Amino acid sequence: MTAVELIEKKRDGQSLTANEIRWLIDSYTNGSVTDYQMAAMTMAVFLNGLSGEELAVWTDAMMHSGEVLNFDHINKRKVDKHSTGGVGDKVSIPLGPMVAACGVAIPMMSGRGLGHTGGTLDKLESIPGFTTGLDQGQFTAILERHGLVLAGQSKTLVPADRKLYALRDATGTVPSIPLIASSIMSKKLAEDLDGLVLDVKVGSGAFMKDIDAARTLAETMVGIGSAHGTSTVAYLTAMDEPLGLEVGNANEIAESISVLRGHGPADLTEVTMVLAAEMLVLGRIDDTIDAARNRLEEVVASGAALELFGQVIEAQGGNRNVIDDLSLLPIASHSFELKAQESGSVRRVNALAVGRAAMRLGAGRETKEDSIDAAVGITLHAKTGDQVEKGGRLAVLAFNDHDRVESALALLRNAWEIGDPVARSNLILDRIAS
Ligand code: URA
Repeated sequence: MTAVELIEKKRDGQSLTANEIRWLIDSYTNGSVTDYQMAAMTMAVFLNGLSGEELAVWTDAMMHSGEVLNFDHINKRKVDKHSTGGVGDKVSIPLGPMVAACGVAIPMMSGRGLGHTGGTLDKLESIPGFTTGLDQGQFTAILERHGLVLAGQSKTLVPADRKLYALRDATGTVPSIPLIASSIMSKKLAEDLDGLVLDVKVGSGAFMKDIDAARTLAETMVGIGSAHGTSTVAYLTAMDEPLGLEVGNANEIAESISVLRGHGPADLTEVTMVLAAEMLVLGRIDDTIDAARNRLEEVVASGAALELFGQVIEAQGGNRNVIDDLSLLPIASHSFELKAQESGSVRRVNALAVGRAAMRLGAGRETKEDSIDAAVGITLHAKTGDQVEKGGRLAVLAFNDHDRVESALALLRNAWEIGDPVARSNLILDRIAS
C-alpha cells in the first residue's frame, strides 16, 4: 500500500478500507507518511468526506495511535463533558465538582484558549499554585480520591491528533465535520469513558456559526460515540452572546465559584445544570433528568460541591482558600467603564467582539506561544433583554496595560445593539442522542 494510492482513491471519491485507514494513521504517526502526503489526504477528506464506516475506523485508529487510559479499578461510572468552545464558557469548572459530588468520576482533560475563545486550563491556572500538568500517576490518584481531576491533555494520548491538528491548521482543513468529529472524539474516547456529554456551541462566538452545521457535527460525534459503545449525548447551545457576565480568566473562576454557591448568573447556571444532569443520568446515578437536577441543587445548597472543588484545588497544588476569599485571585491594576451611548433595550451583545476584546486586553492568545494575563478581563453589566439608560454601564474592563485598552474598546463600542425590546432567544437549542 502506498500513500499516493490512498490519496488518489479518496481524491476520486472512493471509500478507503479499514486496513488502509489504519495503515495511513499509523504511518503518519510514525513519520513514514509525510506531512505533505497527509495534507493532500486531509484536503481530499475535506472535499469528499468520510462514510460512517470510514469515520468509525479513522477515529478508532487515531484513538489507538498512543496510550489509551484504563480506569477499570475505579468503582464509579466515568463520564466527561466536552464543549466546542465559546466566549465566557466556564461551564466545566462548576460542573465538574457538582457532578463529582453526586458520585460520578470525571477524568477531565481540557485545552487552552486560542483566539477569541478561552480555555479551561488557563482559567484554572489563575488559581495561585494550581497545576494542570499532571503525570499519569498523579492524574489517576486524584481521580480515585476525589472523583474529579482537571488536567491538560496528556502528551501520550492520541499523538496522531497532535500532528494532524497542526497540519490542518496550516492547510485550511480545520472546518471539516469528519475531521473535527474524529479529532474531538478520539481524544475523549481515549479517556476510557462510560458516557460523554457534548456541548456544541452555535452562534457568533462559536466555531459553528450555523445551526445546521452544528447539528451535523453533533450527530456525527454522537454516531462515533455509539459505534464505540460509549453513551454519548450532545446539546446544541446558544453562543450569540457571552455565557455569564465574566470573560477572562481569574474573573471566570470567581463566577464559577458563584455558581457553586448557588448564585451564578441564570444562563450560565442553566447550561451547567442541563449538562450536569445529563451526566448523572449517563453515570446511572439518577434515572431521570428531574431527579438529577434535584440532586445537583442539593450538593450546591449543602456546600458539598464547593467543598469538593476546594479539595481538588488543593490536590492539584492550588490555594484552596480562594473558594472563600476571591481577593486571592490575581487582580488587575486598572479598570475602565464602557457606557451606553443611548437608552433602550439590549437586543444583542456580540460574543465574538467581546471575546476578541478580552484577547486584546491580554486574556487570550493569538498564537500558541503567547502568554496570558490571568487578571485582565471584561465584566458585562448589560445583556440581551436588559434595559439601559444613556450613560449607564455596559461593561467594565479590567486591565494592566494602557496600550491595550484602545484596541479592545474599538471592538466593544459596537458590540452592544440597543433599540426596541426583543425576546431573549433560547439557550438550549436541541438535544441529540443515539
Ligand atoms: N477541537 C478539536 O479538538 N479538534 C478539532 O478539529 C476542532 C476543534
